[in-house]
Amino acid sequence: MTNPILEMRNVHKNFGKTAALSNFSLALYPGEIHALVGENGAGKSTLIKSMTGIHQPSSGEIFVDGKKCTFRSTQESQAGGVAAIYQEPMVFPDLNIAENIFISHHDRPAFINWKQMYDEAEKLVARLGVNLDVHRAASSLTLAEQQTVEIARAISLDVRVLIMDEPSASLSNHEVERLFGIARSLRDQGVAVLYISHRLEEVFELSDKVTVMRDGEHISTKPTAEVTHDTLVAEMVGRDMQGRFARVPSVATGETMLSVKGLRKFGEFRDISFEVQKGEIVCFSGLVGAKRTDVALALFGIEPADEGQIEIDGKNVEIATPKDAIEMGIAYVSEDRRKLGIAMEESITANITLPMLARYANKMGLINTQLEHEDAQNYREKLNIKTNDLDGAVGTLSGGNQQKVMLAKWLNTNPTILIVDEPTRGIDVGAKAEVHQIIHDLAAAGVAILIISSDLPEVMSLADKIIVMREGHIAGIFAGEDASEEQVMRLAVGAKTQEEVA
Ligand SMILES: Nc1ncnc2c1ncn2[C@@H]1O[C@H](COP(=O)(O)OP(=O)(O)OP(=O)(O)O)[C@@H](O)[C@H]1O
Ligand SMILES: [Mg+2]
Repeated sequence: MTNPILEMRNVHKNFGKTAALSNFSLALYPGEIHALVGENGAGKSTLIKSMTGIHQPSSGEIFVDGKKCTFRSTQESQAGGVAAIYQEPMVFPDLNIAENIFISHHDRPAFINWKQMYDEAEKLVARLGVNLDVHRAASSLTLAEQQTVEIARAISLDVRVLIMDEPSASLSNHEVERLFGIARSLRDQGVAVLYISHRLEEVFELSDKVTVMRDGEHISTKPTAEVTHDTLVAEMVGRDMQGRFARVPSVATGETMLSVKGLRKFGEFRDISFEVQKGEIVCFSGLVGAKRTDVALALFGIEPADEGQIEIDGKNVEIATPKDAIEMGIAYVSEDRRKLGIAMEESITANITLPMLARYANKMGLINTQLEHEDAQNYREKLNIKTNDLDGAVGTLSGGNQQKVMLAKWLNTNPTILIVDEPTRGIDVGAKAEVHQIIHDLAAAGVAILIISSDLPEVMSLADKIIVMREGHIAGIFAGEDASEEQVMRLAVGAKTQEEVA
């Protein structure tokens, strides 16, 4: 019998009154891919941060190769062969790619051999099968590219345990396949890979073993071949869940709310024309990089378009700033919660009420904090935001719960047009059903809804209309009930016309 590379025994981790991990034990063996699943706030990220020296367990022990270890920093855990890629890529925007890759090397020499550094960075990036100029500044990278840099950084160190916390959330299908290839080849070299994901289909495709955790506790560890989708979900949520992803009939009213004609932004997108009715759910599908988000940024006035017309409720409008957009009843939930989304140090309540402060202020400008709290409380219940303190900083929430706060913030503006970019990225299966329900309720209340999603099953179950974008233009438009996943995918990756895929 092989011995585990890394073993945790009876680990506890408390944050104030919250027990994020309780009595948790887990063993990771060489040459296997071990998946870790659980609801938002179950403690997955806390577990890996405890393995990598970011958090110190409140009690319990960690062994590497049978020897007891205490990691006080990520440098120490990396020296012990344990590296991780986190949910939110952590790159230094002012440094270039090569510098980002080598920044964590603790044995940095007094003189840097620049040529050697760039050569090695190029080799690492090539090993990942990616085409990236390592001289590029990290600030210019997309989320997916930032993540590639993180992976390169991890494999540049001599890893024996590689932990990936929701690495696929911001990747396109193609990039996910490449990531899986990397994970498998590391496994074949004897590395233990711990893989966290809310996409259960990935767990089945990739992992050898799967561990379920709930409320900080270890529920089960089994060979993946011995579990099913339904048994996994039941263990994650602690109850049976049925009726996922059933299609809901359209409630579109036939009255056009948003009409976009010939929208163009030089170098980004062109010929963007479509309509959204009151009560209609329109989904933008396509590969990461198809410029769907850029269209949303134009509609919300963050990066206005150069040409074209936007009509809201029959009236021609100019949207030059987000303020204009908000006044016209548009809300935009961004895909990147750090950049455009939420203020990590501010409280949950403050984040939710921020765009609507006027609603809470009296004539003197004094904020009615009780009203603010009532609204925040209401969203905590509706979206099942896991926290016992609405005055606590958003940064202390789990990733999926931060996503819910961002959604709450924009729902609270009572929009007539709601644009949501990747509504359920990082959100667990149970909460995903809740978010979909909220979207259906808003549609039933007459809100015009525009969703950008890379999650095809989500698009298939939500959309009344599917707009497929490719390389900055609209490749085709399907009625939701007529389209198949395969047709949408083929159009997104380059079938020439809609007729070709039909
Ligand atoms: N720095 C912190 N301070 C206070 N509480 C925290 C902190 N980090 C995490 N928590 C709490 O610990 C619990 C577990 O959070 P964790 O981030 O580990 O969940 P997760 O399983 O990774 O969830 P997700 O799927 O949403 O990423 C949550 O209740 C969270 O609010
Ligand atoms: Mg997490």
